[in-house]
Amino acid sequence: MATVRKLVAGNWKMNGLSDQIVEAVKVAESLAQTPAGVRVAICPPNILVHRIAERLARTVVEVGAQDLHCEAAGAFTGDTSGEMLRDAGARLVIIGHSERRSHHREDDAAVSAKVGAALRAGLEPIVCVGESLEERRSGQALQVVESQLAGSLPDSLDGRSFVIAYEPVWAIGTGLTPTLAEIEEVHRAIRRVLVARFSNGAARPILYGGSVKASNAAEILNAAEVGGALVGGASLKATDFLPIVRAGG
Ligand code: PGA
Repeated sequence: MATVRKLVAGNWKMNGLSDQIVEAVKVAESLAQTPAGVRVAICPPNILVHRIAERLARTVVEVGAQDLHCEAAGAFTGDTSGEMLRDAGARLVIIGHSERRSHHREDDAAVSAKVGAALRAGLEPIVCVGESLEERRSGQALQVVESQLAGSLPDSLDGRSFVIAYEPVWAIGTGLTPTLAEIEEVHRAIRRVLVARFSNGAARPILYGGSVKASNAAEILNAAEVGGALVGGASLKATDFLPIVRAGG
């Protein structure tokens, strides 16, 4: 199995005013002194992408966005295109997060269209999948994730840089996490799907997300087929985020 450099990405969600920018700068400054050997990204709200990208230029920390519209431009009031995010300095974009899937009713087809839009704009998509608690309890977790992958990943991903994030919905922001065996079982299933569909499927990172924090990061990041972490709440403060980044190094 090809080895892939781990990616630890912070998802700030709808958190952060101007005074939050300093936390991104602290992460970059700290990693400049002690290189972590992992890829690190921060995904702030769109309104902060440009300012943070300017501050993080020439550092090891990449900037990502949390969503994009599937068209490049046009009459879509309130939306932001991949081209705009790329122009503002983003290099990655989270797509199909469970909060988008539930609050904005984004289905797999919408996610797939957005993945295509990200590629067109030169952004690396981080495509999120994950089962609900009911689906986990009824033994449907693998089937749900495989079905989400089938519908959310366009064939145009073949040979391109992309990232999958496995985020069980019931683990997001709850403090609950699956067992390592459960994480590994799903990650192995995702790997099988990627290898079967994409020529570079063996080499794409599969992140785990859902209540990752300093105290559980090392064991999760060392689990089989875990290629990094997507971190929500614990990414907002550099002092919480940096130990997670270092756990991946
Ligand atoms: P959490 O969020 O780390 O706060 O659970 C993860 C995510 O939603 O990406």
